[in-house]
This record gives sequence, C-alpha cells and structure tokens, in this order.
Amino acid sequence: MSEDQWTKIDTYTSTLMVEHDAALDLAAKASAEAGLPEIAVAPNQGKFLHLLARTHGARRILEIGAFGGYSAIWLARALPAGGSLTTLEAEPSFAEVARRNIDNAGLSDVVDLRVGKALDTLPELAGGEPFDFVFIDADKANIPEYFGWALKLTRPGSVIVVDNVVLDGLVVEADSPNPAVQGVRRFNQLVADEPRVTATTVQTVGSRGHDGFCLMLVES
Ligand code: DHB
Ligand code: MG
Repeated sequence: MSEDQWTKIDTYTSTLMVEHDAALDLAAKASAEAGLPEIAVAPNQGKFLHLLARTHGARRILEIGAFGGYSAIWLARALPAGGSLTTLEAEPSFAEVARRNIDNAGLSDVVDLRVGKALDTLPELAGGEPFDFVFIDADKANIPEYFGWALKLTRPGSVIVVDNVVLDGLVVEADSPNPAVQGVRRFNQLVADEPRVTATTVQTVGSRGHDGFCLMLVES
C-alpha cells in the first residue's frame, strides 16, 4: 500500500469519526500559512491522544514540543475542569503560532506555553505536582533526555506517549548516521532497560507517512 492509499483511508475514517472543528481547522491552516511544515499529528492521531488522556482521567498534562499548538488543543480539550496543560516549544516563531492557535481555541487559561529549549525549561517544572500524562513530540535526537525528564516529572500510574519512534522505518538501521534515528534507538534501549515502565510501540501509517507511537505506563 502507498501513502496515497493510507491518506485516503485517513480521510475516510476521519470524515466519519473526527468532527470538523473551527479552532482545530484554523490551527492547521494558520500553521501552514506561517510556513510550518506539515508535521503536526494528523486529526485522527490528535483525537487518539485526546481519547488516551480522557480515558486516563489526566488532570495535569505535559507536552514536550508544542510546534503550532495543534496537538496541544486536542490534549487541553481532554482536561477536566481545573486541569492544566504545560507545553514547551524551543522555536519562538512556532511558539507564536501555537499561542495564537491556543488563544483562538479559547484555551489560554488552561495552557501554560513555555518558550525555550525543553532541556532548559524542564528543570523549572521539577518539584511541582507530578504530571499524569506526558506527550513527547520534539526534536528526535533528544528523546532519551526528554524520556528521563518525563520519568522525573510523573508518578506511578502516569502515562507517557512518544511520537515518531519509527521514522519511516529507519529506526531499524543500527548504523544510521541520522541523529533522529540514533536518538530513537537510544530511547528504545533505555525503555527496554527501564524497570519503572511497561511499554509498547505501535506503527502508524496515514497522512503523515509511516511512523509510530510508543505508549508507556509508569509502574513505580
Ligand atoms: C518531524 C517531527 C515530528 O514531530 C513529526 O511528527 C514528523 C516529522 C520532523 O522534524 O521532521
Ligand atoms: Mg511528531
């Protein structure tokens, strides 16, 4: 099957199950108009994350990598009253787009968007209430470090989801010089060696090509 066919199926299922929503549609459009590449999660994936957070009852969500704010909107909408989403973005121009999209969705009261490299802003979050749900979707070379922070900032019972762990299949290339591939491989080994989490990876295909999510439950 080709990416065209995967995309057709995404369109078919999303037309049936992912309701059109003005704020999300505008967020995608505004991101494209601002020249951001089309690397945000697809609508069906955004809804998948939203449902994961809701079924988990997450009240405090952390996102590493806000990009244009599209997944932040899906995640923030999963929060119960009194809940909050903290989202980190290194690139100021992306953060500006994200802030506008989040404001337009009426979510600025529940979203704390922090601009700066996540490795600089994550330490600011230490010592606070633990997060119930973490979504890692930032630069791939640093996924191992983000995973380490996610473990520090969560509690037993928290959920951690990592995007882009398949990288169009490149993840199996052990000798790849690509820093993203090496980042994901180092992360996978850390997960394998980490007794505090139970994890699985599922591949995804669709309008965003061939990739995957790693889902983890923090056990202790
Ligand atoms: C890229 C980043 C992502 O988070 C994604 O889902 C797809 C691609 C990238 O940096 O190329
Ligand atoms: Mg991603």
